[in-house]
Amino acid sequence: MKQIIVAIDGYSSCGKSTIAKQLAQYAGYRYIDTGAMYRAAALFAIRNKISDFSSQQSDIIALLPQVHIDFAIQPDGTQHVTLNGEDVEKQIRTLEVGNGASQIAVIPEVRRYLVAQQQQMGKNGGIVMDGRDIGTVVFPEAELKLFLTASPEVRAERRYKELIEKGEQPVMADVLADVNDRDYRDTHRAESPLKQAADAVVVDNSIMTREEQMEAIIGIFDNKIRPLR
Ligand code: DC
Repeated sequence: MKQIIVAIDGYSSCGKSTIAKQLAQYAGYRYIDTGAMYRAAALFAIRNKISDFSSQQSDIIALLPQVHIDFAIQPDGTQHVTLNGEDVEKQIRTLEVGNGASQIAVIPEVRRYLVAQQQQMGKNGGIVMDGRDIGTVVFPEAELKLFLTASPEVRAERRYKELIEKGEQPVMADVLADVNDRDYRDTHRAESPLKQAADAVVVDNSIMTREEQMEAIIGIFDNKIRPLR
């Protein structure tokens, strides 16, 4: 059976990775979290004394050849991102690294470097890839494109809960401001801004449960692959 490329794009904290993982599991496809790649690159920059992502862009670009990102499959089937062979899945999930990722993602050379790797990882299909530019830039020919969205307040609330679960002590107003800042940067950058592909199916999950959403998405996926069987 033909294995397709599923591109999932959308705003931060709207549940893209949960959906992408579940859909990959359902389909028996590989899941690639491209946000984790930008986060790992940002972590490398932070560890290499980059403190100002906008004024130190040329230093960041010079570091790129030393950045080797991959995914290691865990015994339970989940994937952890690795940076030069080190499992950094936990270290990349902080607010600091998330902000760094959003800032590093505006640099065209960084995007080109990571997009080339993403295209290589997905070229044979059988992949669910999530990010901001998957349906528009990485795989504009993807057979199925989903664009996920939810209101900033709902997303801030979800992010707040995740941070609490990780033992951080976030302030709700800061988390909401952070969601809004990240949305602004993701949609207004010159290079590959977040935007919905013309042929993407939009799913607004503000008032959907995870189960309702998954059911809807599995239905969309099945409809897409049925004629290809
Ligand atoms: O999905 P995430 O929150 O882990 O992504 C972290 C940052 O990386 C986000 O602010 C935008 C950026 N990103 C991107 O520009 N392009 C992608 N394909 C994935 C993420």
